[in-house]
Amino acid sequence: MKQITARVYRFDPETDSEAHFEEFNVAVNDGARILHVLHAIHDSVDATLAFRYCCGSGQCGSCAVRLNGEPVLACMEEAQDNITIEPLNLPVKKDLVVDLAPFLETIASLKPVDTLKMPTKSDIDMIKPLRSCIECLCCVSVCPAMEVTKFVGPTAMRQEMRLSLDPRDHGNRIADAVKEGLFTCTSCQACWKVCPKDIEIPSKAIEKLRALANKCGFTLPKHQEVAALVKETGRSVTRIEPTFLELVNTDIVEPSGTVKATVGFFVGCMYNMRLPKTALDAIEVLKRNGIRVIIPKEQICCGSPLIRTGQLDFLDTLRKRNIDAFRFQKIDAVMTICAGCGSTLKNDYRTPFAVLDINEILTKFGIESPAHLPFRATYHDPCHLLRGQDIREQPRQLIREVVDLVEMPSVCCGSGGGVKSGIPEEAAALGKRRGEEIRKCGADLVITSCPFCEFHIAGHTDKPVKNIATVLLEGYREKDRKTGKPVVP
Ligand code: SF4
Ligand code: SF4
Ligand code: FES
Repeated sequence: MKQITARVYRFDPETDSEAHFEEFNVAVNDGARILHVLHAIHDSVDATLAFRYCCGSGQCGSCAVRLNGEPVLACMEEAQDNITIEPLNLPVKKDLVVDLAPFLETIASLKPVDTLKMPTKSDIDMIKPLRSCIECLCCVSVCPAMEVTKFVGPTAMRQEMRLSLDPRDHGNRIADAVKEGLFTCTSCQACWKVCPKDIEIPSKAIEKLRALANKCGFTLPKHQEVAALVKETGRSVTRIEPTFLELVNTDIVEPSGTVKATVGFFVGCMYNMRLPKTALDAIEVLKRNGIRVIIPKEQICCGSPLIRTGQLDFLDTLRKRNIDAFRFQKIDAVMTICAGCGSTLKNDYRTPFAVLDINEILTKFGIESPAHLPFRATYHDPCHLLRGQDIREQPRQLIREVVDLVEMPSVCCGSGGGVKSGIPEEAAALGKRRGEEIRKCGADLVITSCPFCEFHIAGHTDKPVKNIATVLLEGYREKDRKTGKPVVP
């Protein structure tokens, strides 16, 4: 047996004007789950505690709660000491019981066709990854788009895609999905990461529905403009100043001192065309830390803006051109500095070379300590770095080398999935929330590692927003100033 202390969210609409937490200490068996803790509280301390469960084995989805802020199935999650248990972030009926009905009602049902048509093996294989939903609504409880706009949500989208693949259904699934907010999804991937059944809703449902919507002429005009630009210029944004590839003016940048590794630099449209100075800062940091950088000029857009918006007809051309630009280089890995490019190269390409984000490169090979700058900074996790590439600790490790770090919740800023260009009012609403979190955490500097986040957040906070590479370089300049060395330009 072991003792568990749990802070539990309490709210009874009949007696409470607002919610509060109560602390319980109960004895449970070793290996007990959160559901066992709730039973122990209910049976031995407070029989009024309301919580929901049925199967006790991860099959019915009814026991979902938040454990230390993260949605989980109470019956599957092992209980640790000193935990906080809250309801999902949905309307609360009592204590840990939330109102599921309004969301479950939006999940479409099969509309049977008149003739008998059975799914083929290939239909079944395509349907399979979308079929195992247990309607726990963990995904719905974390969806940022649903909080600021009319969007039916991730599992309803999953069901539309699942039905669109089923020959027994005659509903107009694509038109329905568009009406229900298909283009409001920011591709943040939060729904996938909390799903206990590991259903990849963004890539297996939303992007697929967007690709089908494209064939039916539903693609948003702004997204069509981006696709036309990529086809015409190879880049997803227009040129407004000399690009990084023009400014850098060489194919190879040698580091000062011993060479620890050689990387091929995949710069991406935003850092090439709109934020070339940040890419140049990254080169200085890499040079100082023994990383040789090869910069093939033939590289073009990775295709992320097309994949996320379902415009796939030009994608193979982009993939081939980018792979050819790097495949014969003598490099240890291709390095990305844009979270979106990195996630695309890692997850949407089959590359004959390793792909690593700059934060992985710098922490893997180690960096010289910069001077500690007198800032209290917060870090915004780019969705395509945190969830798209599972990179959480490396940027924090680098940031702590140069400034003090204060945390804020990791949520989407609203700039991804084509939302900033296609539905700017939604992007602005999410950006505003991000600005509010920055204000609340008391930071005087915001650091991130994605050009889209950097641009978007800068429009919603009065604090400076900088890339990690730029802040590291500022730390090196300060160090050189203090030690009397020539300062890095
Ligand atoms: S990817 Fe993000 S915005 Fe899109 S449905 Fe999932 S949680 Fe919602
Ligand atoms: S998709 Fe996953 S997280 Fe969402 S309701 Fe279904 S099982 Fe739960
Ligand atoms: S009680 Fe059924 S999934 Fe947890």
